Amino acid sequence: MKITISAIKADVGSVGGHQIPSQKLVEAITNHVKDEGQRLLIDFKISHSGDDTAILMSHTRGVDNKDIHKLAWDAFVEGTKVAKEQGLYGAGQDLLKDAFSGNVRGMGPGSCEMEFEERPNEPFIFFAADKTDPGAFNYPMYRGFADPFHNAGLLLAPDMAGGFEYTVMDVNYTEGDRVITLKVPEELYELAVLLRDPEHYVVESVRSRATGDIGAVVSTSRLHNIAGKYTGKDDPVALVRTQKQFPSSGEILSPYATAHYVVGDNRGSHIVALMPCKQGSIISFFDGPAIVTAAGLCVHNGKFTEIVDLFDQPFWDVIRNKATEKTLAIRDQGFFGAAMAPMEELEYTGVVQRIKELDKKFTIRKE
Ligand code: F6R
Ligand code: MG
Ligand code: MG
Repeated sequence: MKITISAIKADVGSVGGHQIPSQKLVEAITNHVKDEGQRLLIDFKISHSGDDTAILMSHTRGVDNKDIHKLAWDAFVEGTKVAKEQGLYGAGQDLLKDAFSGNVRGMGPGSCEMEFEERPNEPFIFFAADKTDPGAFNYPMYRGFADPFHNAGLLLAPDMAGGFEYTVMDVNYTEGDRVITLKVPEELYELAVLLRDPEHYVVESVRSRATGDIGAVVSTSRLHNIAGKYTGKDDPVALVRTQKQFPSSGEILSPYATAHYVVGDNRGSHIVALMPCKQGSIISFFDGPAIVTAAGLCVHNGKFTEIVDLFDQPFWDVIRNKATEKTLAIRDQGFFGAAMAPMEELEYTGVVQRIKELDKKFTIRKE
């Protein structure tokens, strides 16, 4: 059976600052999807990570389907109503347009979708990250699919011998989708030079070269193009099919043990270690840290199993400590040098404005 899995997520208000959506808000989103999704969806799951609520849906309408996107948009509108009633902070924050116009991409929410012929056994992982941007997935997507250091199956299993094809988006380009396709292992170094710059080039999808099957998708859209200009970070989602012709679930999770540094955290403008967290984790220290959650599921005839929390296992407690230590180490130097995001990534305009003013006062010393 050919199905589509769509993950759409947004921050439409949270309790205590930018920390976590309220239960009522999540209920409002759930109820809307339950009622209005009946004729559109096969199944759905609602979850939240940091201050974002995510709607995971299965259906047969393909990617970029207007009705599916409208369902999610309207659910977030319902969530916003509750956020306003409760006085939640940032009510409606990610709904950047007043009216829905065909597709949530470019309208604020993060979304990624994949359409595929279901395998008889279909495990996949739904990742949701908060307080960071889609480039946060570059490192784990590179290492999980292309590097035998983590994907031991590249050496040990015949199913992946053909390698993978990455589609990478230039998210600085605002006129449309500027993308490139690279095949690994042949073009591994070309891929590496792009992905090392995660605020500019972002993995959009990964396919199996042997079968052409879609293996992974990442939300890339909002960053690169809203009203043709840079509009800041969006908290990304990703879907990864695992096992057989794809890396195993453990191989895909393995790179997260690095707790790699990403841009985000406080005011979207700092560098911190990405912390793998349990489902429903809240945001706290320094409006962060940047977090990622991983929901493991199987799907059959479009019906989801229960979610298993892939970062709820004692191994990840150690990694959470490691992430804390890495974050504290860089936080020690505050806003100096590498601790704060580069100029063009700063989400607030204070620094830029001050420098403009100071610029006028600079003088060139005469000999
Ligand atoms: C980062 C984030 C927070 C806010 C900060 C100020 O993504 O959400 O760090 O930027 O709490 O928020 P405002 O400007 O809404 O007062
Ligand atoms: Mg927020
Ligand atoms: Mg968020």
